[in-house]
Amino acid sequence: MTVAPHFKFNNGVLHAEDLSLAELADTYDTPLYVYSRQALRDAWEAYRIASEGRDVLVCYGMKANSNLAVLNEFKNLGSGFDIVSGGELARVLAVGADPAKVVFSGVGKQVWEMKAALEAGVKCFNVESEAELTRLSEVAQAMGKVAPVSLRVNPDVDAKTHPYISTGLKENKFGIAIEKAVQVYQHAATLPGLNIVGLDCHIGSQITEVSPYLDALDKLIALIKTLASHGIHLKHLDLGGGIGIRYTDEKPLTPSDLLDQVFKVLRQHQLESLQIVLEPGRSLVGNAGVLLTRVEYLKHNEAKNFAIVDAAMNDLVRPTLYDAWHSVEAVQPRQEESSVYDIVGPICESGDWLARDRKLALQQGDLLAVMSAGAYAFTMASQYNTRPRAAEVIVDGATAHLVRPREALESLYSSETVLK
Ligand code: LLP
Repeated sequence: MTVAPHFKFNNGVLHAEDLSLAELADTYDTPLYVYSRQALRDAWEAYRIASEGRDVLVCYGMKANSNLAVLNEFKNLGSGFDIVSGGELARVLAVGADPAKVVFSGVGKQVWEMKAALEAGVKCFNVESEAELTRLSEVAQAMGKVAPVSLRVNPDVDAKTHPYISTGLKENKFGIAIEKAVQVYQHAATLPGLNIVGLDCHIGSQITEVSPYLDALDKLIALIKTLASHGIHLKHLDLGGGIGIRYTDEKPLTPSDLLDQVFKVLRQHQLESLQIVLEPGRSLVGNAGVLLTRVEYLKHNEAKNFAIVDAAMNDLVRPTLYDAWHSVEAVQPRQEESSVYDIVGPICESGDWLARDRKLALQQGDLLAVMSAGAYAFTMASQYNTRPRAAEVIVDGATAHLVRPREALESLYSSETVLK
């Protein structure tokens, strides 16, 4: 058993759907990101079922994995997109996504990004400060347009997750304090370049319980009612992303757990006419991918055994950045006695580790799959130590599609110049 249902052992070899990861490593070399198309579809299906008969727009939080093939898959399944930059906008437009299903989040939108999003005609700007409201109104007015806006409010709830990925508490940089929200909405209503359409929040990531969402929802509903009493009527409520996945033994809430509860509360308050927007990232892609890597050396010193592999923190920064746990599976497990290893990369940093204290039977040349690497893996990859970013493959049944080749070494420096 692995944490991800689309990666299973077959005749003693770990497979992605119907393809052996050992064969994929031979064909495409390592390190390699391998995604399962069916896993993407199944993750989407959970949101589709949860949304059935309800006015819900799912906007994939594409920062989790923005490969065009992944975006295209979700677009074809009916997804909208949550973008946070002009670059992400360019990607969704490149796959022909419908801008009317795109919401634009982020604390630091630049003028060119606002212009591009207005030009494209996005559904909504999720605005995070008064200064941003002013700028957006001016940019829209100068273009002869009106910008649809939500305010991202900070409901000050504890998402019970890692501090780096918890965003709904007072002390972090995101959103507008909920106590100030009415006043800021009233100000927004006076700005000529804006049209108020919704309310937005995002309380954090890798959330495993429904209660933080419901705490936030209570506060948001109170705000919606106060706004209505001031003549400000909203069309949608965006609850952000954040549903967690199983990395080890978590049992995260499902989209149905969330939406069943949310619509129950909306009904109690006679607010069913509100459209609900969600911005899931990790839960749509996280367990659809693995990072495949080969053991270069085994090294034993007094205190530790190390498996030095060809993937590194530049390919998967989550362990060192968040102390995140990713399961590690031997692609062809050996029957020999196992030892406890730290799985580390070749980068010249002590922080370059992918997993610690894992019991494995290993030999040089063995393949390992670092599980749950479909989200925030490639998108956070860098070229540190002049390491080309790894290739990405999507497996569909027994067919592999190379959706991004390994970067050519020369491309890492070919646009650089030296001084005369
Ligand atoms: N919407 C907004 C406004 C966000 O900031 C995020 C993620 C999402 C949606 C999607 O959240 P998700 O459903 O994936 O939890 N790099 C970290 C995660 C950072 C999340 C940033 N915001 C990690 O590797 O755990």
